[in-house]
Order: sequence, then structure tokens, then C-alpha cells
Amino acid sequence: MDRANKIIKNSDYQKYLDELQKIEKNRKFCRHNLSHFLDVARIALIINLKTNAQINAEHIYAAALLHDIGRAKADVYEPSHAAVSAKLSEKILRDCCFFESEINYILDAIINHGDENFNNVKNLSGILYMADKLSRPCYMCDMKEPCFWSLDNKNLELKI
Ligand SMILES: [Fe+2]
Ligand SMILES: [Fe+2]
Repeated sequence: MDRANKIIKNSDYQKYLDELQKIEKNRKFCRHNLSHFLDVARIALIINLKTNAQINAEHIYAAALLHDIGRAKADVYEPSHAAVSAKLSEKILRDCCFFESEINYILDAIINHGDENFNNVKNLSGILYMADKLSRPCYMCDMKEPCFWSLDNKNLELKI
């Protein structure tokens, strides 16, 4: 887990987390903070074990920790926060000693994390997609009604 720990301590990463916290200070819908990133990482680890997908835990942590950091750049949301997150993550992953082949694999998962075509797919993109969706406690959320998630996507009961 050395390199996952390097991400947590990376100065760019910490700067984006701070920016996100400021941007989302008054956000009523789900926030994108370290707590969300760790929830996603740990749910992804559970899915990894349950499905015997055998994905490297450090790759899971890297993708989960970084998948939404693009939301810190609220003014550059196009084409999507996933693409912006991938763009910002590339330097962080390189600075944290990931190899080029690993970087491309992790960036793909970050880019794909909102793409429902990856639901139930047994690779890093699929596991990140599912963990991200499962991480939200819609059953206890005051914003359940105005939330744009479809009824099918909302977690109306504990699933994992
Ligand atoms: Fe996202
Ligand atoms: Fe997310």
C-alpha cells in the first residue's frame, strides 16, 4: 500500500481535496470528499473479494481516491468531471511511482466510473463504477426526491 499512501500525502492531491471541500461547503447533495473516496475504495475491495476479480488493492485504492478530484475544477466540467479527474490524476500517479501501464489502466477506470456499461463488469472500471454507486446511502438521504439519480440507481436499502 506504499503508493496508495503516497497519494494521500501528495501535495497536489491534498490541494484538490481542500478545493473540493470549499466548493462543496454548502452542497446539499452527496459530497465528494475523502470519506466518499475511502467508502468507494473499501466497497470496491469487498466486490473484488466477492467476485474473485483479483484486482490489485493498490490499483483499487488509487482509482477510488482519485476518481472525483476533477470536481475541484468546477469551471472545467466539460466534457465530464471524470475526464477532468483523469487529467489531474496522471501527474499524481506518476509522482507516486506508478508505472505507465498501471497509470493508463487506472485512468481508464476513472474515465469510465460513471458509465453504466461497466455495471457488473469484472475489471477495475466495473468495480469502481459499482462501488461508487453503492457508496451512497439514499435510504437515509433528505435529498432523495430532488436527486437526479434514477429510482433504479438509488440505494433504497443496504445491498453490500
Ligand atoms: Fe464521479
Ligand atoms: Fe464518486
